[in-house]
Amino acid sequence: MVDDRWWRGMDAVVAERIGGNGRVLDIGCGDGGFVERLCAQGIDAIGVDPRAPVHPRLIAEVVEDVGAIGEFDAVSAVMALHHTKLDVVVAAIRRLLRPGGRLFVYEFAWEVYDARAEAWLAAHDSSAGDNSVARWRLKHTGLHTGVAVRTALATALELREESERPYLARMLGIAELEAEEQAVDRRRRTTRDRPVVRRPAPKWSGRRNRSSRVTDSARCGCRS
Ligand SMILES: C[S@@+](CC[C@H](N)C(=O)[O-])C[C@H]1O[C@@H](n2cnc3c(N)ncnc32)[C@H](O)[C@@H]1O
Repeated sequence: MVDDRWWRGMDAVVAERIGGNGRVLDIGCGDGGFVERLCAQGIDAIGVDPRAPVHPRLIAEVVEDVGAIGEFDAVSAVMALHHTKLDVVVAAIRRLLRPGGRLFVYEFAWEVYDARAEAWLAAHDSSAGDNSVARWRLKHTGLHTGVAVRTALATALELREESERPYLARMLGIAELEAEEQAVDRRRRTTRDRPVVRRPAPKWSGRRNRSSRVTDSARCGCRS
């Protein structure tokens, strides 16, 4: 079965924004599931990823080394940019987008993973995995942070739209939890970032507003 956890719903967004017959390049396409989904909507999509399987619509290379493949109406990158050499990949994106073309990015900010997210996972992750903040940070050190990805993109391209959405339920692969995670986040917003899980005051002091959310945080989706 195709693992659509990261790009689920994004095909509709891309199709709506560029129309049904644009040309799209998916960077870090993995097994090509997103490319296939776009093609099913009538979009002329191809993917690039050094780990791509043999497929007529997939190029098994890093995007910065890819040869002449023309320009695209849109480029997408789903959970891919935090792994890349950001400066060269952003330059490649600029080269590959036609003037006025659009970039669609789904990324995560692993640096905001905190005790609150850890507590949410403790309640919902049935695996024996170590979801402690310390382990999380250790595991992700070396990947670009969400802030670094956003900054690199914002300096090279005009930022048009941005939204935050739940991450952990998708990471667990439990779609039914997404609504609950979203509700927790909505409550956080309406209660002015009051943490759901109360911990001794010193642990929260000065960090609550920035990091007490359960969304857009946590570990990388890659199993590598
Ligand atoms: C977490 S996986 C995401 C796969 C897919 N987008 C998905 O949503 O299932 C990140 C992918 O980015 C690819 N990648 C990393 N650096 C890349 C680069 N410079 N150019 C193209 N792909 C790259 C990796 O090989 C990996 O398959």
